[in-house]
Amino acid sequence: MDLSTFPRIPLGTWPSPLDDCPRLSATLGATVLVKRDDVNGLGLGGNKLRKLEFTLAAALAAGADTIITFGGVQTNHGRLTAAACARLGLRCELVLTRDVPLTGFAYDRSGNVALDRLFGARVHVCDTDEEAAYTAGALATASSVTLPVGGSSGLGVLGYVAAAQELREQLDGRRIDRIVCGSGSGGTVAGLAIGADIPITAVSVSRDAEGTLGKIEAAAGLAAEELGIDEPKLHHVDVDDSALGDGYGLPTDEVWSALRLFARTEGIVLDPVYTGKAAAALVTGVRPGETVVFVHTGGVPAVYGYAPDFVVEAGR
Ligand SMILES: Cc1ncc(COP(=O)(O)O)c(C=O)c1O
Repeated sequence: MDLSTFPRIPLGTWPSPLDDCPRLSATLGATVLVKRDDVNGLGLGGNKLRKLEFTLAAALAAGADTIITFGGVQTNHGRLTAAACARLGLRCELVLTRDVPLTGFAYDRSGNVALDRLFGARVHVCDTDEEAAYTAGALATASSVTLPVGGSSGLGVLGYVAAAQELREQLDGRRIDRIVCGSGSGGTVAGLAIGADIPITAVSVSRDAEGTLGKIEAAAGLAAEELGIDEPKLHHVDVDDSALGDGYGLPTDEVWSALRLFARTEGIVLDPVYTGKAAAALVTGVRPGETVVFVHTGGVPAVYGYAPDFVVEAGR
């Protein structure tokens, strides 16, 4: 698929590494490769950089001087939008909603939200989606561009179409059984599914399997419009909501164990909201002898937002 006609601004360092993980693999009885989209350069890294390369290029081409976007208090998309805006000399307005029933100094002030401020973004914390919509509307000007939650516009999804192409080149013909990747706003899995005909397990982090598939289909549809192709068939996407627990932003015991497993076998840090849930689903669903690419989508600064629990769980 030719993406060269779309404006794109380099923000990350590509290709991100594809790490062999022998000790993790031996523990799970399968071959696990980790695609390190957590270590891709800007703003402490993460999957949103790939989307921002396309969405911010389009915003700049449209003459924007300000980016407005949304998320929860510990949004990684907000943090990376703030970092990219700093790099590009754009103003950044982050409209955050208290959508996780957690509070306290660490959650409300540390982790991603502290980094948002460090990168110079203005942070507006709202109690409801209605308040967030009103706040964003009041901030909008003729020269601002508003990006959706998770950056999953049609253009944003193209970032993961490109990632799938990058992964195929790294695999260089090596056969894998499936990709495992966390899914929230759906854009990451949608892009991977459009870019590679490899089975994908999309691990729900915020809604049940049906709701997650709906998000992925919607994001894929938006990308298809940008690409001028037919609505993509997502027959190779399977949604696993077994690690969802009590909902978005609420880690389970299995999530904390997955963080310890990756850290203690490979020195890889996962986050408790996205990659921790994706890894928990990998651990419970792994089939003996299979070869899996686990996409590490980033999110690691959130561990500081979960400091009280993280401190205890890290030491178990
Ligand atoms: C660290 C991390 N992983 C995974 C995701 C999920 O990606 P998507 O929203 O494209 O489904 C997000 C989105 O917020 C994220 O921040």
